[in-house]
Amino acid sequence: MTAQLIDGVALSRQLREGFAQRVAALKARGTTPGLAVVLVGDDAASQVYVRNKVKACGDVGMHSVLERYPATLTEAELLARVEALNQDPAIHGILVQLPLPPHMDAQRVIETISPAKDVDGFHVASAGALMVGQPGFWPCTPHGCLRMLDHIGMDLRGKHAVVIGRSNIVGKPMALMLLQRSATVTICHSATPNLKAHTLQADVVVAAVGKRNLLTADMVKPGAVVIDVGMNRDPEGKLCGDVDFEGVKEVASWITPVPGGVGPMTITMLLANTLESAEKA
Ligand code: GUN
Repeated sequence: MTAQLIDGVALSRQLREGFAQRVAALKARGTTPGLAVVLVGDDAASQVYVRNKVKACGDVGMHSVLERYPATLTEAELLARVEALNQDPAIHGILVQLPLPPHMDAQRVIETISPAKDVDGFHVASAGALMVGQPGFWPCTPHGCLRMLDHIGMDLRGKHAVVIGRSNIVGKPMALMLLQRSATVTICHSATPNLKAHTLQADVVVAAVGKRNLLTADMVKPGAVVIDVGMNRDPEGKLCGDVDFEGVKEVASWITPVPGGVGPMTITMLLANTLESAEKA
């Protein structure tokens, strides 16, 4: 069996065409959706990510500002910038790129963002809303994964979903979203003995650890759907995920590639959240 590809580039293109129309409608009513992206320091990967986010805004007609600060910025100065953006009516979404320099308390910075503009969905109020099933912004990466499962028409009710990874950004919110869809959810992590025993039971596996070849073909139930959130480099420097793509694609029914899978969907869901915030404003 060779799995079908869940193409995050094509799905993103389709969704973003719809966003561009909604942006145009909002502009006609006098509101241009605006995203502020704040980058502190010169982390190489972060620079690429923020550039992609800002470009994506422009592509659908949204306003965006990129605020770049040296790693020497104090936490108090950053908090003051976030507070100013909270008050700025041209800004509907605020994203502080992580990681922050070690002298800053990232959670304190995130808690300073107004929940109404928390388009990353990292604020404790957003996390709590997801937990109890109230409206709020959902973290973009797991939301993008869910959107991909919807796209292939997967009915998650009663299915066994195994999430590998327990981060606040991906693993935990992913598990809650799958639970909300009435899947039976298992969260595996670095202290889980015999990961394979769990993944072999799964109808859906979401791999979100950051470790190349974490999930191999012998760990996947034939016909399972495999979502790869990993972003790693192989020894030749080529981008790869957490899944041994070549092996697993012979066992799975659907699989996301890296690159071209979850990555573009993360940015697409950021645009979705920013647009939703502007529509509410
Ligand atoms: N760093 C890695 N991924 C993300 C993300 O989705 N949002 C922010 N703010 N920082 C990140």
